[in-house]
Amino acid sequence: MRKKLIAGNWKMNGSLAANATLLDNLRAGGAVGCELAVCVPAVYLSQTQSALTGSSIAWGAQDVSEHESGAYTGEISATMLKDFACGYVIVGHSERRSYHRESDELVAIKAAQVLKSNMTPIVCVGETLSEREQGHTDAVVIRQLQPVLAAVSSRLSEIVVAYEPVWAIGTGKTATPDMAQQVHAVIRAALASVDVHAANTIRILYGGSMKPDNAKELLAMSDIDGGLIGGASLKAADFLAIASAA
Ligand code: PGA
Repeated sequence: MRKKLIAGNWKMNGSLAANATLLDNLRAGGAVGCELAVCVPAVYLSQTQSALTGSSIAWGAQDVSEHESGAYTGEISATMLKDFACGYVIVGHSERRSYHRESDELVAIKAAQVLKSNMTPIVCVGETLSEREQGHTDAVVIRQLQPVLAAVSSRLSEIVVAYEPVWAIGTGKTATPDMAQQVHAVIRAALASVDVHAANTIRILYGGSMKPDNAKELLAMSDIDGGLIGGASLKAADFLAIASAA
């Protein structure tokens, strides 16, 4: 049985004052029947660590450098993130793929860096609207996953995958539970082609306009093991409501 994971992706939102309130309210939310995590801007990791240490909520980052250390101005390494006790690091979010031209291969290297520092990469995949309309959804997510499977094959069971259709992110448009389930099953089959046991234990999250009012039916699907939540993770009440739907 896979324990559901509800992970917040704050993106480039927050401030010391706003985060303090949000983190306090999340902590006060008490025990939920699933795992909770927040992926915050790196500059707020220290604040998040202080606020959540001793709680059941994990924290993490939204990106990582593919390099270990050195002359890479502005970059943040996996070992630095580990210094702040990050549990999770998102890699390959569609906003990184499109605005920063991150390739499938680069995302795979980042996932491997995260594992090397003993954190869990949340590897994002997902098709654009035109790719879906042309019937390329399955091929796109498999192409995005392929280099990751090769790069982390010996530790495959330690990753989390997030299926995030690009057309559903921040748009209010959600994949129907059946549409999402279908792609999740394709992803699980691709994982199984490398390691059947890992495929059964890996959590595959759905992301893209998941909200309190649609979370329950999405999370009821057999291959949807949690959510990667953007907008709704910025409001404690909404984030906790999604968690209780899980
Ligand atoms: P959204 O974002 O929930 O605001 O659609 C999800 C994500 O981009 O991870």
